Amino acid sequence: MPSEKFGIADKIIFEKRAEDYPPFVTLVSKQSHCKIALHGAHILSFIPHGSPDLLWLSSKALYQNDKAIRGGIPICWPWFGSSDKPSHGFARIHSWEVIRSGVDEEENPHITLQLVSNDASKKLFDYKFCAELSVTVSDTLDVQFSVINRDEKTFTITEALHTYFRISHVDSVKVTGLEGCSFIDQLDHDKEKLQQGAIKIKAEVDRIYQNSVDTCTICDEGLRRNIIVSKTDSKSTVVWNPWIQKSAAMADFDEGGYQHMVCVESANIGDHQITLKPGERHMMKLNISESSSLET
Ligand code: BG6
Repeated sequence: MPSEKFGIADKIIFEKRAEDYPPFVTLVSKQSHCKIALHGAHILSFIPHGSPDLLWLSSKALYQNDKAIRGGIPICWPWFGSSDKPSHGFARIHSWEVIRSGVDEEENPHITLQLVSNDASKKLFDYKFCAELSVTVSDTLDVQFSVINRDEKTFTITEALHTYFRISHVDSVKVTGLEGCSFIDQLDHDKEKLQQGAIKIKAEVDRIYQNSVDTCTICDEGLRRNIIVSKTDSKSTVVWNPWIQKSAAMADFDEGGYQHMVCVESANIGDHQITLKPGERHMMKLNISESSSLET
């Protein structure tokens, strides 16, 4: 069924990219708009009217069927990481289908995209599943990612909504909400360490915070705003900035882009992996909003 039939005038607008690449869809509310690529059910932007984008998207991002898009919110599923299988799973390199759209009583648009197991997914993850991403746009960006086990066997997954946030400059930003959490330092032999105080990005950072369910805030003095990242049923948080060398080694990363982004990823990884018996469902929710830092 063509996705375009889920369009709603001035509220849910489809935009064809290329013959062989899935469309983008823009959701427009009274307070904001948000663009989503059907490739990967990948949220590309969330722009409250009058504000800069809350999400960072590389201007060198690749829009190709076998590649993940650099920036926005890639969905890492059914695994996070991995060196012997596609990095961060296959959900972000599959085309998703639109199954529902609408506008609520406050005229906020919403859309639901779906990915079901198919021949290609079975080669990498031999289970029947149904994954859905629902997005509602108002003064906040509301995201729900759910998975149902439709197989006769139990399966285990790890996952992340790998959100790239746009910031004025790493030097003007701190991330709060993870103080006192232990983290796995992926740059230091996976040693477990303790977060003391707010996070400041002064070098490469690649950390998995465990038992981290609280709201995080990205306090950006340069843009005089706070980005508030709250989540439900996500017990891990990944904080990542590739810094100079690693970002320069990525062909799809803007030159110097590492200074203007930080990933704060809502996830379930390691001890918090999710096991689903036949018929069971898991849902992780993410809400992103901004406030003026002058108010706090
Ligand atoms: C982060 C990981 O979540 O994603 C990093 O912690 C990884 O180790 C990064 O480098 C980017 O991954 P990718 O596959 O999108 O380049």
